[in-house]
Amino acid sequence: MRQKISLTRKCFNIVISALFIFAFMGGKVLAQEEKKEAVVAESPEIIAKGKKTYEKNCINCHGEKGDAVAPASERLYPEPRDFTLGVFKIKTTARDELATDQDIFNVITRGIPGTSMREWAELPSDVRWGLVYYVKSFSDRFKEGKAPAPIKVGTPIPSSPESIEKGKELFSKDGIQCNSCHGDAGRGNGDLALDLETDWETPIFPRDLTKRWTFKRGTGPRDIYYTIRIGVEGTPMPSFAEDLDEEQTWHLANYVLSLSSPEEPIPTASYQVKLIQGELPEGPDDEVWNSVPMGQYPMAGQVIVDPRMFKPKIDFVQMKAIYNQDEIAFLLIWHDPSELTDDDSFKDAIALQLPQNPDGRKPYFLNGDPENPAYLLQWSAHKEGSITEINATGMKRMVAQKEGNQNAKGAVVYDNGEYRLLIKRSLKTDDKKDAQFEPGKFIPVAFSAWEGSNEETGTKRSISAWYFLILEAQIPKTVYYYPLLAIIIVAAFEFSLIKLIRKKK
Ligand code: HEC
Ligand code: HEC
Repeated sequence: MRQKISLTRKCFNIVISALFIFAFMGGKVLAQEEKKEAVVAESPEIIAKGKKTYEKNCINCHGEKGDAVAPASERLYPEPRDFTLGVFKIKTTARDELATDQDIFNVITRGIPGTSMREWAELPSDVRWGLVYYVKSFSDRFKEGKAPAPIKVGTPIPSSPESIEKGKELFSKDGIQCNSCHGDAGRGNGDLALDLETDWETPIFPRDLTKRWTFKRGTGPRDIYYTIRIGVEGTPMPSFAEDLDEEQTWHLANYVLSLSSPEEPIPTASYQVKLIQGELPEGPDDEVWNSVPMGQYPMAGQVIVDPRMFKPKIDFVQMKAIYNQDEIAFLLIWHDPSELTDDDSFKDAIALQLPQNPDGRKPYFLNGDPENPAYLLQWSAHKEGSITEINATGMKRMVAQKEGNQNAKGAVVYDNGEYRLLIKRSLKTDDKKDAQFEPGKFIPVAFSAWEGSNEETGTKRSISAWYFLILEAQIPKTVYYYPLLAIIIVAAFEFSLIKLIRKKK
């Protein structure tokens, strides 16, 4: 057992890095204007070069015949493209028109952010052109027609509060209704969000527009302009070329970009929990939280223990925490497109994971192991605001503490595609099976999250790596005592001096 665990641990670093690379990388976020590489014309030699590279680098996902029948393809979300359809998402021609050679060249060069389609810029330019022609050869669409010229893109209207306001109005205006898919706040939680399919009948979800770094085409105003004018071919993301004029399209692009910061948040390796005087907040929307810094934690599907989660929905959890003399309070924030509380088998849920033993050693990141158990503070949607304390020695070995030992409190709000959950617990308890929150110590912390409408339950969940909390050290009592003592001594000295002087008088 021991050996098995340490071996598992060794594998852990490799697996977790691969996992996170898979979930977050893919392509590079594109530079809006990039230098154009010279076109290499189609010829039998160039196609042969493309074929050779395709068979070495692309076949595992896109299949020998370009039809995406391949070993890796069923485990990937989104699924690798079936090239026989001749459908390309990242192109510059009008919807339903063929992609240009340059479009296909660009997407091979940059990859697609947030997917397993990585960038291939390291391949020589003529090989990438060979790949373009070889990829096209799988589809009859290209044999029948030619790609038209790219759509025209004028000069962007610079972003301003007025432009953003106009875009905001259009976002939910009758006849446009971006919100029907993307949700009123753009969090990907519109009424239609859970019922969408690609043209090839796989599930697809509207983008969470508050996470710009997940946009497949890119993050500049021009990229959003293209997406709105052309749509995303093969998916329900429509073209609005007929419904919006140029100016309106720029306003909408400015609004979309106003919903998030340009950079992907950097994970918070170590979060400093501030000490406050007085009461901790009673709810997730208490004003006290406004001044508390936010921790950022990327999540990825759990793909190590069966059954696995290859298509996770929760890709990000945020956390705030503060403490006082007696208690600690956590605020967890995450996006979830539907509030699922009453389905029998699937519920939205989240867990904060800590080591059960106070020695600071990190347990195995998937719920600990028999030597180093994990302690979980878990919330599940059907239990409203209640938090369950759980001890775990593995993904499938979890025991909820007895009712009398359950001491954590919670309160939850679901608001327009976002959960905000408050968890509160005593800093220290007498229960040996509880984690203890000792100021000044590095305390490992990790997260698990379940999206009920995505049929996530048990081991099918999103997980994070380990991060750290550190409770800001309490001001030692001596800091107060010494000045007080000094004041008393000085006062006593003065008192006796005055007495002495009086006596002498
Ligand atoms: C690890 C799996 C994987 C490998 C390897 C891979 N791809 Fe992809 N590729 C994908 C996925 C997944 C998509 C679809 C992403 C989406 O629909 O958002 C994709 C999409 C594409 C597209 C369509 C882009 C568009 O605009 O819709 C092209 C072209 C492409 N890949 C070319 C290649 C070439 C050429 C290679 C080899 C040099 C390659 N891919 C290797 C996973 C892979
Ligand atoms: C019928 C549903 C639907 C409507 C309406 C809709 N979208 Fe989308 N949108 C989608 C889907 C689905 C995707 C994801 C496509 C994908 O992942 O390939 C998407 C993706 C996007 C993206 C990200 C593109 C990228 O580069 O990844 C943006 C930006 C966007 N939509 C903006 C809008 C705006 C603005 C409107 C209104 C003018 C709108 N959408 C209306 C379904 C919709």
